[in-house]
Amino acid sequence: MPEKNILYAIILAAGKGTRFKSDLPKVLHRIGGRTLLEQTVRACAPITKQEIVVVAGFGFELVSKELEIIKEKLKLDLKISIVKQTEQLGTGHAALVGLSGISENNADGSLLVVPGDCPLLSEATISEFVSCEVNKAEATKASFSILTVELDNPFGFGRIVRDSSTTANLVSKIVEEKDCTAEQKKITEINTGVVLSTLAALKEYLPKLGTNNSQSEYYLTDVPELLIKDNKSVSAYITKNKLSVRGVNSRLELSVLESEWRQEHLSALALSGVTIESFANTFIDLDAVVEPDVFIGAGTRIYGKSIIKSGSILEGDTLIRDSVIGQNCNIRLGSYVDSAVLENNIAIGPFCHIRPKSHLMNNVKIGNFVETKAALLHEGVKANHLAYLGDLEIGAETNIGAGTIVCNYDGTHKHRSQISSKVFIGSNSTLISPVEIGEGAYVAAGSVINQNVPSGALGVGRSKQVNKEGWASRKRKAENKSTGNK
Ligand code: UD1
Ligand code: CA
Repeated sequence: MPEKNILYAIILAAGKGTRFKSDLPKVLHRIGGRTLLEQTVRACAPITKQEIVVVAGFGFELVSKELEIIKEKLKLDLKISIVKQTEQLGTGHAALVGLSGISENNADGSLLVVPGDCPLLSEATISEFVSCEVNKAEATKASFSILTVELDNPFGFGRIVRDSSTTANLVSKIVEEKDCTAEQKKITEINTGVVLSTLAALKEYLPKLGTNNSQSEYYLTDVPELLIKDNKSVSAYITKNKLSVRGVNSRLELSVLESEWRQEHLSALALSGVTIESFANTFIDLDAVVEPDVFIGAGTRIYGKSIIKSGSILEGDTLIRDSVIGQNCNIRLGSYVDSAVLENNIAIGPFCHIRPKSHLMNNVKIGNFVETKAALLHEGVKANHLAYLGDLEIGAETNIGAGTIVCNYDGTHKHRSQISSKVFIGSNSTLISPVEIGEGAYVAAGSVINQNVPSGALGVGRSKQVNKEGWASRKRKAENKSTGNK
């Protein structure tokens, strides 16, 4: 009997996903920034006591790599292993390969079999299913239970055939679309692919599967019929959460599902106090956090593990990836922020590029066409126009003039520079790294600085201006003479 002790989960992820027409295995495609594999592991992990076995095949190395990333990211207190299904002979065969990957041979206990192509499967949906099945009276408990859903258009899915002669309206079999009779095609209850079974039932019946069907595959969905022949019962639980159990077999289906999910996701954010100017043009990943009282302008993309803190305004046409935007920041139109930290009350853009390892402390101002990279800008630094600030630290209240370029790269190596606090760098200066500019120093506009400037000094690195009195007037006079003009 399925019991509370759900020891294992097997994730079926070996298929190529032929209809995706991709070199990437289907489970490595993404929804809301997360791979389908990560979504599936997240859904199963809280319910599984002992081990998750991922069955991979097509793109095995890539799937293994992603699994390592997921383990590192989720830090689960649970064993997660991977086994190879060399040939994709069907879901029944994949489940059998999964069983062989379970490291401890427990005779009792139950297990979940979960498809890897159900991107929005959630812990809530699985646990609702599991708790309903395990709480059934002993007499009506089945050794194999299927999570099902009613669909207006069931085309393509395995249909649930019920036996109305049984009081509990038990399942008699599952029939795949391609094997359905015209009558069976009218059935609207379909198999989601999520199965809860005793270990004993799978161990006994998976090896007995045949391939006598239109696809000549070992179908996991043929197990119920075998069980019933042996007078064992099979039950099904119908979930109401249709989005959560929708499987995807093509990029089109994934894209349609993602846009439906996005509307829900953005609606939840709007209800939590975030202003979203355009639902159609806003993309916020599952791992991103947006606090209340944030304004999200049209064309905003917030990717990865980003946090946007309260009171901030993102004007739009902006991409933010794996970054922190502090409170009351103003991210003006067209800004690109990647793997950076912006503290509070910062204004950037329009049209700036904040690159990895940039750290902007409180009250920093970055204007148009400014690029920063691996730069620590202390409080109140201003770089309002046209600058490249790479590999350096800039002290508090320093002003970087328009057109300042930090030459951090000598063609072979990168070098770091240090500009202290309350410095004034005149416009169109070139600072050749490594160089240090002392506290309160000035750099004259148009300088090329390749030597340190001491605190309180003025660094001038340009040729001296010479005014030639009367030169222009003499030139004009000479020109007029030669053309005969008076
Ligand atoms: C399957 C079910 C169908 C159900 C539908 C729900 C079967 C035979 N059919 O159909 O009843 O309605 O899911 O979405 O189970 N896989 C392997 N190895 C294989 C074959 C498949 O690991 O040899 C994996 C795939 O990578 C995928 C999952 O199993 O993640 C389901 O396989 P797929 O081919 O997508 O099955 P469907 O035709 O969608
Ligand atoms: Ca599928």
